[in-house]
Amino acid sequence: MKVEIFRNARMDNLSYLIFDAESGSCAVIDPSWSYREIISFIEKEELSLKAVLLTHGHYDHCDMTDGLEKTQADLYLGREDIFLMPKPPKKYFPLKDGLEISVCPKIRVKCIYTPGHSPGSYCFLCRDLLFTGDTLFPGCCGRVDLPGSDPKLMRHSLLKLSALPPETRIYSGHYYNGGQSSIEKELKDNPCFLSIDNEDSFINEIL
Ligand SMILES: [Fe+2]
Repeated sequence: MKVEIFRNARMDNLSYLIFDAESGSCAVIDPSWSYREIISFIEKEELSLKAVLLTHGHYDHCDMTDGLEKTQADLYLGREDIFLMPKPPKKYFPLKDGLEISVCPKIRVKCIYTPGHSPGSYCFLCRDLLFTGDTLFPGCCGRVDLPGSDPKLMRHSLLKLSALPPETRIYSGHYYNGGQSSIEKELKDNPCFLSIDNEDSFINEIL
């Protein structure tokens, strides 16, 4: 499995294309404003887009998704975030905690429900890669002062992520602090994780 990373200068969003070079099957995570570059890459590599996965419904992650819908790829998102989307999709598959999406036999994506930044935030685990959207960044977590945010739920979501194998690699939704890390590194020096055992300390830390 290969990962192609697209960085967009507008809000420093990161979009990810995961693909199997052998079968040509691919999926895109948070296409955002890199939509055109992603389509060009898919065409150049002669890939077949099977799924569009949205970590959450904020416009800087889901914008341009309607263009990708024309490819007939299945669109997946948390239904709790529909209210946040500027252009809610006509057709989509709702994410569920534990749902496994089969992009192809070699690429299976496990969905982990991680509300907090938004009520319908999800992380996507694919082998040892974790795509965290705006839930977890290197050195910090996502904002929890937005409509539908909930700091207590964010704590529970991060507790869930902290239980993943330490070698799990993190690919976040923005290029903050480089955008990539590992669970092991974040457990050691991310202030959100360091205060996670106590709800009051955690909320003080992130608000
Ligand atoms: Fe967001």
